[in-house]
Amino acid sequence: MTATTYIANPFYASRLKRVAPRTEARDRPVYARLPLAPRNASPVPGLTSLYHNHRAGDYGDRSYPGNCGGNLIKDLLLYFQPTLICDPMAGSGTCRDVCNELGLGCFSWDIHEGFDACDPTDFSMEETFDFIWSHPAYWRQKLYAADPRDLSRSPTLEHFLQRYRQFIRNSARALKPGGKLAILMGDYSDREEGFVPLTWHTKRLAFDAGLRQCCTDIIRFSHGASSSKKVYRSSFIPGLHDVCMVFER
Ligand SMILES: C[S@@+](CC[C@H](N)C(=O)[O-])C[C@H]1O[C@@H](n2cnc3c(N)ncnc32)[C@H](O)[C@@H]1O
Repeated sequence: MTATTYIANPFYASRLKRVAPRTEARDRPVYARLPLAPRNASPVPGLTSLYHNHRAGDYGDRSYPGNCGGNLIKDLLLYFQPTLICDPMAGSGTCRDVCNELGLGCFSWDIHEGFDACDPTDFSMEETFDFIWSHPAYWRQKLYAADPRDLSRSPTLEHFLQRYRQFIRNSARALKPGGKLAILMGDYSDREEGFVPLTWHTKRLAFDAGLRQCCTDIIRFSHGASSSKKVYRSSFIPGLHDVCMVFER
């Protein structure tokens, strides 16, 4: 089919109009009315399965690739009330900064400092934690360190999942009984593999490691994602969230 026949066909012509460049109306924020949360004894009533906090908070470094706002971490710590926390893929140190503010102990490491969270000898049992916060690479959606042990440098999905499995096992072993592992992860459309349901893989691997999910998925709205400013020629359903899953040992 030539470009001309494509446009001459009224069905395609009407669809083409919808692929018009951004207009002011499209850029305007849409306000959704969220369901009312039931009242309960939670010390953090604003923490529900749908999460957005318009303030990132003064934690970590917002310019670090993959940086996440600290308020979700803060809410989880206030809810679960752990005393010793670990962030084994710390990036710019968002979790550490939240812990400092709350006066909680936090071990935080990253592959940039040579610590490999997927290596059972690096991530050993010397210390155990009652809360592990983890925001791993969404495979190769964003690249982090040049180190080949960086999860984002895994050459294939199989390799990534094998290393991710070992990371979750290491985390499960580093938890005190009853300790929690919170993982923030997003699904990802890869140029070779197509849609990769990383949140599903996360649950599967956590269950295989003997953990159980201890509360609802927390859907975090991805305001400010760099992809939201891009224009793509292909058609797809944009993913506008990632998911925080909390598992218990
Ligand atoms: C999504 S970023 C975390 C960003 C962090 N939450 C923040 O707010 O700055 C993922 C981090 O995982 C680190 N990483 C990737 N593979 C790793 C590994 N095998 N061991 C430890 N850290 C790793 C990357 O260097 C990167 O800093």
